[in-house]
Amino acid sequence: MPTLFDAIAPIRYQGRDATDALAFRHYDANRIVLGKRMADQLRFAVCYWHSFCWDGNDPFGGATLERAWFDDANPLHAAELKAEAAFDFFAKLGAPYFCFHDRDVSPEAATPRETRRQFHHMVERLNAHMQRTGVKLLWGTANLFSHRRYMSGAATNPDPAVFAFAAAQVKEVLEATHQLGGANYVLWGGREGYETLLNTDMKQELAQLGRFMNLVVEHKHRIGFKGTILIEPKPREPTKHQYDFDAAAVHAFLQRHGLEREIKLNLEVNHATLAGHSFEHEVAYALANDLFGSIDMNRGDPQLGWDTDQFPNNVAEVALSLYYILQGGGFGSGGVNFDAKIRRQSIDAEDLFHGHIGAMDTCAEGLLAAAKMIEEGALRNAVGERYAGWQAARAQDILGGKVSLADLSAQVLQDDRDVEPRSGRQERFENLVRRYV
Ligand code: XUL
Ligand code: CO
Repeated sequence: MPTLFDAIAPIRYQGRDATDALAFRHYDANRIVLGKRMADQLRFAVCYWHSFCWDGNDPFGGATLERAWFDDANPLHAAELKAEAAFDFFAKLGAPYFCFHDRDVSPEAATPRETRRQFHHMVERLNAHMQRTGVKLLWGTANLFSHRRYMSGAATNPDPAVFAFAAAQVKEVLEATHQLGGANYVLWGGREGYETLLNTDMKQELAQLGRFMNLVVEHKHRIGFKGTILIEPKPREPTKHQYDFDAAAVHAFLQRHGLEREIKLNLEVNHATLAGHSFEHEVAYALANDLFGSIDMNRGDPQLGWDTDQFPNNVAEVALSLYYILQGGGFGSGGVNFDAKIRRQSIDAEDLFHGHIGAMDTCAEGLLAAAKMIEEGALRNAVGERYAGWQAARAQDILGGKVSLADLSAQVLQDDRDVEPRSGRQERFENLVRRYV
């Protein structure tokens, strides 16, 4: 069956001097980097929603992207056409993984039973496409934010009937993710937050959210799903105050509800920026607390304060994030999902390829720089040197809880001399990183 991408040949690595716009210049899937294939280090995924479900609309205008499935009057048939095109795209791009929401791949029908029947039908279709192309599932997730029933939240809705509806939806998608061999399951708290405290009982809503997450984890174990459950923090948009503000807020929430060993984080670049953090900050926080799971790679716009979901194109920034991730042990079950979309004027089928090719090349170039930084160890050694004092036996005793505040005071008074501060050498560190990117 012809698809949107018929005119486009599979994308190949052609080397850094290539001038063909539909070729990789840095992403060479089989090249070994730090002992693994580049493809296995980066574990790229294409997201279904931005690339195949969004029609180019913005608050001021309607669709700009013309796709056969947008015009199909039969929603299930439209979903089948969309899946056909999506897998043709994944395979031609050479993306090893994809990610989806239930409503991206299958429509909402008139009743929950009919919605479920159609979803099962589409999951079978996805399975067949996966077998045919070898493309795997990085994660599945439930869309608990688009339908009007979720306008006041899903798990945090004032109405328990909405909570139950959301739970039923997550059960289906978790089971589908399991059936499709998904590596992870993501929970992004779409409308789990509030617009005004005046109509909100925050304590009640947080208790509901905690119960919801526990139900999901219980069901994961009941069905034997071995993938990782991930929460994706975001500070605002769509609600003004999102409960999953950033990695630290989610960490506190997980501890409060006894879930810190069950759920990890899916960190998104521009969500970090919107929270007033650098992306590396979020990565480092997650790694430091054993919460790192996966990433949604994209970029925001420094002049616009919202979630523009653009493809990454800054090698220096990507290199630094990958440096921390690899230094922390790499992706595990996670990967690099491009939660990014083409601009609304990018209406040609090949524009979707340009977006992803540029992003994959940016990540590949970043990976090579990060690998070199790790192999040479200059940054690690310089940081280690800064903290070297803590290796001494006495300092280890402090960390080990063998020394009291009074002991420390006695020591300071006995030595009776001030401490000489040492330079933080920020500029030297910045120059050191500049050697690699
Ligand atoms: C929204 C966002 C979502 C999640 C999945 O900003 O990032 O697409 O990644 O629901
Ligand atoms: Co995301």
